[in-house]
Amino acid sequence: MRAVIPVAGWGTRFLPATKAMPKEMLPIVDKPVIQYIVEELIEAGIFDIVFITGRHKRAIEDHFDINPDLEQHLENAGKKELLDVVRKISHLINPIFIRQKEQKGLGHAVLTAKPALSNNEPFIVSLGDILIKGTNTVKKMLSIHQKFGKSVIALFEVPKKEVSKYGIAKVKRVDDEVFLIEDIVEKPSPKEAPSNFAVVGRYLFTPSILEELENTKPGKGGEIQLTDAIRSLLQKEAIYAFKVDSAAVFDTGNKLDYLKTVITFALEREDLKEPLLKFLKELVLLKDKKEKENS
Ligand code: UTP
Repeated sequence: MRAVIPVAGWGTRFLPATKAMPKEMLPIVDKPVIQYIVEELIEAGIFDIVFITGRHKRAIEDHFDINPDLEQHLENAGKKELLDVVRKISHLINPIFIRQKEQKGLGHAVLTAKPALSNNEPFIVSLGDILIKGTNTVKKMLSIHQKFGKSVIALFEVPKKEVSKYGIAKVKRVDDEVFLIEDIVEKPSPKEAPSNFAVVGRYLFTPSILEELENTKPGKGGEIQLTDAIRSLLQKEAIYAFKVDSAAVFDTGNKLDYLKTVITFALEREDLKEPLLKFLKELVLLKDKKEKENS
């Protein structure tokens, strides 16, 4: 099975950092966000990965390519561990890069992958800026697909007041983790939202989604919305959903959640945990003290 990672977006929420650098290359401690996404796919047994890129995304291509000069330097310097780290990621996957010439939305980005996809095999779509910790979501979706033979979409519960940031699905429970999708809407107001189950950036699609995308007209924001294509696919095929633990979701595409991600991941590292925690505690104490002095 192949996977598609759309990474052609502007990343406007991170400007000016993203003027020349992809937001997917922002580091979570010492590893770029996109590498976590790729490692999740590798762990699920997916090695053929189609990246939908744009003009300012060259760094992603370089990251998954070999770097002979750097490898030689690390070898000469006797830095064996770093050499292994640098080599491993470029040897594990078969990356395929396709340019999305105009940023016409996530749905359009997925459709751009069509020449690299088979018309009788399902495929995964993983967003390049959403990390999901813990259980491998892609693996879970593959096992649900094996059972039901249909598309599977990962969802997570969000506070009702935040539904207007996401695609929101109306669902019917199948078991503890699996649901059937009954309807889906892009960025509804809290009043219109059929639930608080939001799409979270991991999809397994049967190839029929491509036909739906071809027939999807630009929707909200003038973009070709993946949600609209999913909605029309629902008229023809059942679509299942897998519920992800909300506490495991890290959206690195916005500033606050990016900072939370870096801190959470750093606090899990043996080499950083103690000094970082000490710094954070001191920082909070100092802030509290200053606030008291000012009040
Ligand atoms: P976002 O809504 O996060 O947009 O896209 P963005 O441009 O990346 O970031 P902001 O909102 O301007 O800060 C969701 C995903 O879809 C991809 C993005 O790269 C991101 O992974 N995308 C979006 C494309 O590949 N092409 C598009 O035309 C739009």
